[in-house]
Amino acid sequence: MRLRPFRLDDLQTLYEIDQACFVPGISYTRQELAAFIGHSRSQTWIAEDGDRIVGFLIASTEPRKILHIVTIDVLESWRRRRVGTLLMDAAEDWARDRDLRMMGLETAQDNLEAQKFYMSRGYRKVHEIRGYYADGTTAWVMVKDLAL
Ligand SMILES: CC(C)(COP(=O)(O)OP(=O)(O)OC[C@H]1O[C@@H](n2cnc3c(N)ncnc32)[C@H](O)[C@@H]1OP(=O)(O)O)[C@@H](O)C(=O)NCCC(=O)NCCS
Repeated sequence: MRLRPFRLDDLQTLYEIDQACFVPGISYTRQELAAFIGHSRSQTWIAEDGDRIVGFLIASTEPRKILHIVTIDVLESWRRRRVGTLLMDAAEDWARDRDLRMMGLETAQDNLEAQKFYMSRGYRKVHEIRGYYADGTTAWVMVKDLAL
């Protein structure tokens, strides 16, 4: 298992993984994914086993020294094997190296697995955004103070 940067020919695979990870309304379109990845403030990490992509993380640097997790996706058959940990460690280390202050993200209110994953890493729920997702699902905003 190793991490590497995004390559243009990864896009279709990332799209397929995102479609498998999230229900319609929460998953991204191919165009949305391409726009997030291509944005000048964004960083993408790819987790690979051999030449197979098993997970990825997209993050975007926001005002007030926040690194915002756009999405983290791990193939179902690879979950609970620390792929998510590897990806989040890389993103948090990247943020610390740039003196960013805080990590932030949104997660669906009913995505209890993801909330447990984030809480195990020191994230806390700060508030809800009703109707955040296209399918009407409420999101939790979760943050982690990188100085702690
Ligand atoms: C959330 C997600 C990224 C976690 O990735 P992962 O590779 O399975 O996570 P890890 O193996 O690194 O887990 C680290 C710790 O987080 C916690 N955790 C992770 N998944 C969990 C689950 N389903 N239930 C309870 N705790 C969980 C555990 O404490 C775990 O440590 P342990 O396995 O030693 O108990 C993955 O489940 C996923 O891709 N889900 C679908 C997409 C998604 O919901 N992404 C988040 C969107 S906001």
